[in-house]
Amino acid sequence: MARITASVYTSHVPAIGAAIDLGKTGEPYWQPVFKGYEFSKQWIRQNRPDVIFLVYNDHATAFSLDMIPTFAIGTAAEFIPADEGFGPRPVPKVIGHPELASHIAHSVIQQDFDLTIVNKMEVDHGLTVPMSLMFGEPVAWPCPVIPFAVNVVQYPVPSGQRCFNLGQAIRKAVASYDEDLNVQIWGTGGMSHQLQGPRAGLINREWDNAWLDQLITDPAAAAKLPHIDYVREAGSEGVELVMWLIARGAMADVAGGKPPRVAHRFYHVPASNTAVGHLILENQ
Ligand code: DHB
Ligand code: FE
Repeated sequence: MARITASVYTSHVPAIGAAIDLGKTGEPYWQPVFKGYEFSKQWIRQNRPDVIFLVYNDHATAFSLDMIPTFAIGTAAEFIPADEGFGPRPVPKVIGHPELASHIAHSVIQQDFDLTIVNKMEVDHGLTVPMSLMFGEPVAWPCPVIPFAVNVVQYPVPSGQRCFNLGQAIRKAVASYDEDLNVQIWGTGGMSHQLQGPRAGLINREWDNAWLDQLITDPAAAAKLPHIDYVREAGSEGVELVMWLIARGAMADVAGGKPPRVAHRFYHVPASNTAVGHLILENQ
């Protein structure tokens, strides 16, 4: 059977992608950011997934205001990096896993979550920056990826509780797939940041770190936090963090298993306008 072995969490700051693509990772501003991912690159070489279920948000790239799916699962065979205004990032195309994605869609919809099924989609920095942070600059990504896009851009956005519950449904869906696959689930976006309005530039180190503590040890409590707390404490774009609750909800302890092992934890400010947070949790 397929199983979720680990969850990875990371911010997706677009300027990180630009720093990689323009060869600036060694510059004094960026060096401390990338240092936080050295362990992770080593870890993922030793803990190679067969498939990544990658929870991210589209930033009005594949989905405009014309159509706003709350939860969208990518069932295509491949996903091309999008042009977000400066040409597509020079990264490999993403190879999907249509069989597992279709199985998860079937199972999760039967568990009463209304997913949008996406057979054609380009992917933006929300997906490609986490891939670059974990895998560096390979000629091809080392494994298939199932993109799972969450609307955290245009209200109404899903609650933390609904995301956490959805993670539990995804865990069940993966566990009922009849092939021996090592699946990682990634939760991306965050941490505190606000990109517009009078509070643009807001960062809240203390809140971010307390939220990370709670995500690790008591995710059910973290799931209860209303949107307004994210927006007030972590800024308008800090609400991207609800996506981390999908990955956390898919971990074994939430279904009665052992607590995950914290393989890695990293937090750094500044990176563009965003506080960078990163966690790796392993199922035991
Ligand atoms: C920035 C962060 C984001 O999450 C995003 O989607 C766009 C920009 C930033 O920090 O600049
Ligand atoms: Fe974003």
